[in-house]
Order: sequence, then C-alpha cells, then structure tokens
Amino acid sequence: MTVIIETRDLTKIYGGKVKAVDRLNLTINEGEIYGLLGPNGAGKTTTINMLITRIAPTSGTAVVAGYDIVRDSMNVRRSIGVVPQDLTADEDLTGRENLVMVGSFYDVPKSALHERIEKLLDLVDLRDAADRYVRGYSGGMRKRLELIVGLVNDPKILFLDEPTLGLDVQTRTQMWNYVREIQKKLDVTVILTSHYLEEIDALADRVSIIDHGKILVTGTPSELKSSLQGDIITISFKSQEEADQMKKMPDAVSISESGPNTIRIKVTNADKVLPEMIKFLSINDLSPTRLNVQKPSLDDVFLEYTGKDIRSEDPLDARKQMMTMRRLRK
Ligand SMILES: Nc1ncnc2c1ncn2[C@@H]1O[C@H](COP(=O)(O)OP(=O)(O)OP(=O)(O)O)[C@@H](O)[C@H]1O
Ligand SMILES: [Mg+2]
Repeated sequence: MTVIIETRDLTKIYGGKVKAVDRLNLTINEGEIYGLLGPNGAGKTTTINMLITRIAPTSGTAVVAGYDIVRDSMNVRRSIGVVPQDLTADEDLTGRENLVMVGSFYDVPKSALHERIEKLLDLVDLRDAADRYVRGYSGGMRKRLELIVGLVNDPKILFLDEPTLGLDVQTRTQMWNYVREIQKKLDVTVILTSHYLEEIDALADRVSIIDHGKILVTGTPSELKSSLQGDIITISFKSQEEADQMKKMPDAVSISESGPNTIRIKVTNADKVLPEMIKFLSINDLSPTRLNVQKPSLDDVFLEYTGKDIRSEDPLDARKQMMTMRRLRK
C-alpha cells in the first residue's frame, strides 16, 4: 500500500484562539475512498482546506501526493481536484463550456483536454446534456457536473466536501455509484466529508471520526461498528412514567432517552437480554408500543464517540443547507 496523504501534527488555530484542527495525524492510502465524519465545527472543512492549500496551517504540515503543503503548494494543487460544497458551475454556460473553461486554467493541451472532457461526460452520463445551459440542469445533473469539473486536470486525489448535500435519496445513491466508478476507472484517491452516515457507510473504505479538531477513531465502517460490542434495544411507551420505569432495567450497559417516551438500551448481547427484559416488562406491568433491536450502525458509532447525534444540526448549518438546496432546485 502506498501512502498518498500523510498529515503531521497538522494544526490550525484561527485568530490565535479557535483551535479548529489540533495536531491531526492521519494517513490515507492510494486508491482509498476516505471519509471524514464529524459534528458541526469539528474541523473537517478546515482540514480539507489545509490539504488543498487554500489555507496555511498554523503549525505542522502534510504531504499530499508526495509534496509538502507548506513548501510545495503549487505541485500539490496540480495533483488534486476539488469539488467544494457550494455549487460553482456557471449557470450561463453549458456543461461542456464549464469544463473547457476550467481546463483552460491548467496547461492541458487542447486535444488532450477535449478527449478528457468527453470521457468525463460519459462517466457521469452527461454527454447528451453537455451542450445545454447549466441553468436548466436538475440538481443531480449539476452535482454530476461539479464532480467532473474536479477531474478535468486529471488529479491523483479528489476532494469532495459534502458531495450529495441537499439531494434526494435516490439521486444521492446514484451519485455514490458515480463516485465509485470514478475511483475505479480513473484510479483516483477520494477524500470526502459528509453529514450522511449512510454515505460514509456506503462509500468509504475507511473513516476517521473527528471532533474538536482531533481524531477520535479511525477504521473501516464495519470495524467501527463491531468495536462497539453492543446491540441497541429501542423501546417506546405511551407515557413518560413507563419510560422512566424502564430505565431501571438490569443487565444494560447503558440506558438513555432517545425521543418522546422512548428509551435506548445498550446491551452486550440482545439475544441473551431479551428474555430477561420480557420478564422485567411483565413484572412491572409495562406495555411497550414499539420495540426494536438493532446491531450497531455507523450512527451508533458516531454517537458513542462524539456524544452527539449527527442529525441534530445547528440552525446556522441548516440554513446553509437550505440555501444549497434552493440553488439545487432552481
Ligand atoms: N475562517 C474562520 N475564522 C475563524 N474561525 C473559523 C473559521 N473557519 C472555521 N472556524 C471555526 O473552526 C472550527 C472548525 O470549523 P470547520 O468549518 O472546519 O468545521 P466542520 O467540521 O467543517 O463543520 P461543518 O460540519 O459545520 O461544516 C469551528 O469552531 C469554526 O467556527
Ligand atoms: Mg464543513
């Protein structure tokens, strides 16, 4: 395995105060799809921005595609493609014109550029729409265009910041297939940040969960899930009183509330605990309205390591997302 990105105590402190990224050390291998997962303000975008040399680290450094991000930023930029979270394609140009325009920023010979653009359009099934104005594209088409805009300079590494934010579920799943195809056919390494755990689960070979600028845990999604060694029983009642009573159940590793009249019980092995639980319910005259048993998901991993639920976005970020979605819908 060849290492393509290595960060060395990578640190960013904004305005001498806000430690956004705190001595980050991570290693990404060539050909991986690597996910960065973390709650709002965890430092994901700051990390990406340093790796793509948009901002300078306060201390520490990273080697990206063999080049130091501090000393050799020009070479780093030549080796990478970036698909930012915000839509950047020019609506008053056609898809193809956008690609040509971006291509002209790089020293790609014209014939090679056109050949590459055709190949990229094919990869994301945009050839038929290539000569239409972007203004008329659907949200999914725009995102597909953004995806290949990041590939015009034939990068070794592709950075995707929230690649499917605001897309509907079906379009999102489609995008995942395109990202996989691109990784395979173009042999690129992909680094993505995402608010969607399903996305990381479906796409990432490995993931780092980040909070307060530090890596909490790294592994394949399945490694992280099995590391929890816990099944989750979720049980709902008609009243809060009943739910409170349920909190006294023995044999639980941990018990917390997870919604109205709903209790989340973590146990080492649900198969063994369930018979005991049924006895407990009966003795205490409790009648659940809903009962669910789950092996750990990436959601649970996230909650376990960050103490937060990724779905409870802060209002500012929700607004940012809405703006993106509005633009996507246009
Ligand atoms: N330009 C800036 N100036 C000052 N502080 C900043 C700046 N950019 C980010 N921060 C702060 O640095 C921390 C990390 O922010 P960052 O945007 O990297 O997080 P993130 O993980 O990408 O969050 P999100 O999920 O909301 O995109 C936050 O506390 C944020 O407020
Ligand atoms: Mg961000």
